[in-house]
Amino acid sequence: MERPTFYITTPIYYPSDNLHIGHTYCTVAADAMARFKRNTGFDVMFLTGTDEHGQKIEKKASDAGMTPKEYVDMIVGNIKELWKLMNISNDDFIRTTDERHEKAVQKIFQKLYDKGDIYKGEYEGWYCTPCESFWLDRQLVDGKCPDCGRPVQRAKEESYFFRLSKYAPRLIELIQNNPEFIQPVSRANEMLQNFLLPGLEDLAVSRTSFKWGIPVPFDDKHVIYVWVDALSNYITALGYTSDNDELYRKYWPADIHLVGKEIIRFHTIIWPAMLMALDLPLPKQVYGHGWVIMDGGKMSKSKGNVVDPVRLAARYGVDALRYFLLRDMPLGQDSQFSNEILINRINSDLANNLGNLMSRSIAMNMKYFDGIVGRSGAYVPEEDDPILEKARELPSQIEELMDGMRLADALAKIFEYANALNKYIDVTAPWILAKDEDKKDRLKEVMYNLLEGLRIIGVAINPFLPETSEKMRQQLNVSEDHFDWASILSYGNLPEGTELVKGDPLFPRIDVEKELKELETLSAEVQGPKKAPVKDEITYDEFMKMDLRAAKVVNAETVKKSDKLLKLTVDMGDETRTIVSGIRSKYSAEEMIGKTIVIVANLKPVKLMGIESQGMILAVGDEEVKGLLTIDGEFEPGDMVH
Ligand code: MSP
Repeated sequence: MERPTFYITTPIYYPSDNLHIGHTYCTVAADAMARFKRNTGFDVMFLTGTDEHGQKIEKKASDAGMTPKEYVDMIVGNIKELWKLMNISNDDFIRTTDERHEKAVQKIFQKLYDKGDIYKGEYEGWYCTPCESFWLDRQLVDGKCPDCGRPVQRAKEESYFFRLSKYAPRLIELIQNNPEFIQPVSRANEMLQNFLLPGLEDLAVSRTSFKWGIPVPFDDKHVIYVWVDALSNYITALGYTSDNDELYRKYWPADIHLVGKEIIRFHTIIWPAMLMALDLPLPKQVYGHGWVIMDGGKMSKSKGNVVDPVRLAARYGVDALRYFLLRDMPLGQDSQFSNEILINRINSDLANNLGNLMSRSIAMNMKYFDGIVGRSGAYVPEEDDPILEKARELPSQIEELMDGMRLADALAKIFEYANALNKYIDVTAPWILAKDEDKKDRLKEVMYNLLEGLRIIGVAINPFLPETSEKMRQQLNVSEDHFDWASILSYGNLPEGTELVKGDPLFPRIDVEKELKELETLSAEVQGPKKAPVKDEITYDEFMKMDLRAAKVVNAETVKKSDKLLKLTVDMGDETRTIVSGIRSKYSAEEMIGKTIVIVANLKPVKLMGIESQGMILAVGDEEVKGLLTIDGEFEPGDMVH
C-alpha cells in the first residue's frame, strides 16, 4: 500500500555567519514534525536551504574581497554543519545558487511573462548612489540610507512587474474559504485586513542596480529579484520544470510551509498568487511561528546572553537545546529566551523529571532483579490504573496535538506522563516492597510499569529528542522494532527477559548559579571588546588644527520642539558664544549653568533647530551622552586646552 505523503519546508535562510537560536528554532520545529510524520507512517519530504542572491550578499562579499559565490559557499558550509549538529533530518537542501534552481526559476519567470502576468515598467524608490541601492520609504533610517547613513535621492529604475493586483480577489476568497490555509487563524485576519482588503499593488520582480541574482532569461540587464527567486525553491527542489519532476508530482502541494511571522505575508499573498498564475496547486497550510525574543527584542548577540546554538549545544547537549526550543515555545507565540530559563528547564524537566525517572528505575531493577525485566500481573487498580490509562491515551493525544502543530503541548503531555511515573514510584515505594519476600511479585509488576513507561516515553520523544530516545533504547536494551510508534499503540511490548544496560544519566543537573557566572564570562569573551574601534591615525599637525578652549556656561535653556538639545551661552574670555548641544538626556539647563567645560572653538558653525551653534562641547559617550569634560585646577575662560 502506498504511504501518504507529507511535505514540510522551512524558509530558506539568508547566508549569515551568525545564525542564532531564533533561526535554529524554526528548523528544529520542522524537524520534529518531519520525524513525527515519518515515525507515524508517512512518506516525508522535509526541505530547508539557503537564499543566497541579492545586493546585500554582493556587498558583503566585495567587502570581504571575495566573489559572491565564494562568499556564500563559505557560509553555507557552516549552516549545513549547524543543521547536522542539531540532528536536522532534512531530505534535501536547496541553495538558490544551485543550477537546478536557477534554471527552473528562469523557466518560471518566462512562463509568467508569456502569460502576460509579468510586464515591464518603472520602479521608483530612494536611491543611495555610493551604495548603488534602492530603498523603500520604510527602510530608510532618519530619511537616510540604512547601510551607510548618507542622503538618498528619489530615483526610477526600469523593472519587470508581477501582476499581483490581478490575484487579489482570488486570494481573498482563498483565505476566507480555507481557514486551514493560514495558521494560527489570527494571522489570516491580519493578512486580509492589512494587505488584501486595502488592495494590492503589482510587485517589482527584477532589478538592474545589482548583478548578483538570476538573470531574467529574455533581458539580461535585469536580475530576478528576491521573492520570485526565493519562494520558487519550494517547487524547484522537487524538480518542477526539470526533466525529472517525479518528486514534484509526488509531494506537491506542500502540507506545511513553516515560516516566521514576519514573512507570512510573502507566503500567503505573493506565493499563492505566483502559483495561481502558474496554474499550480496551492500549499495546504502556511504556519506562522513567533519569534524567540530576548529582553523584549527579537534576538541579538549584544545583550550578554549566549545565543549561538553551537556553543549552547556544546555546553548542554543538542537535545537539551531542542527541548527548550520545542517545549518553551508554543508555535504561534513569541517566547522569551535567557540562559537562566534554559537552565531551569533542563534541570526541572530533563534532569529531575525524565533523567531521574530513568536512572532510578534502572538502578532499582538492577538491584532487585539483576537488571532483568519481568512481569507478574500483580495488579493494584488504585495504584496502577492512573498510569496505565495515561500510557494508553498518550499516543493518540500526541497525534492529535501534532496534527494541530501543537508541539509544545505534545511534549508537555509526554513529560506529564514521566511525572506521573515518578509519583508512581513514591506511591508504590518499591524499596518497601523489596523488604518483603511476599511482595516480590508486586515489586516485579511495579518495575515493569516503570520500564514499559520509559520505553513508551523513549518512543514518544523520538521526534523531539532523537539522541535521548536512542540512549533510552540502548539502556532499556530493546531492538528497534520494539521501539517504533506501532509498538506503543498497545501496552506491554517491552519483552520479558530483557536485560537492562546501565548507562550514564541522561541529563546531569546543572548548578544554576555557578553556570550563570561562567556564562557571563563566556559571553563577554564571545562579544569581544565592547568599545568602538580606534579611528584612523592622524598626524600631530592635523590634531593641532583643532582649537580646544576652556569655557564657562553662563546661561542654558531648552530648545523648543526638541527633547535632546540645550542652548548654552558660554563665556570664552574675549567673547561669548551660543552652542547647541544634544546633552539634555543627561543634563538639565539648570545643572549646566556655572559648569566649566571644554569646547571645540574652531568648528564650522551649523544651524540646529534654527539656532546657529558656534562650536561643540566635549562629552563622553558614543551615541548617548554619559558625561562632560570639565577642568581641574586654576584657569580662565578662553584658555587653550592642549
Ligand atoms: N530568506 C528569507 C526567507 C525566504 S523563504 C522563501 C528570510 N531569511 S532569514 O534568514 O532572515 O529568516 C529565516 C527564518 O528565520 C524566518 O522564518 C525568520 O522568521 C526566522 N527567524 C529569524 N530570527 C528569529 C527569531 N529570533 N525567532 C524565531 N525565528 C526567527 O527571511
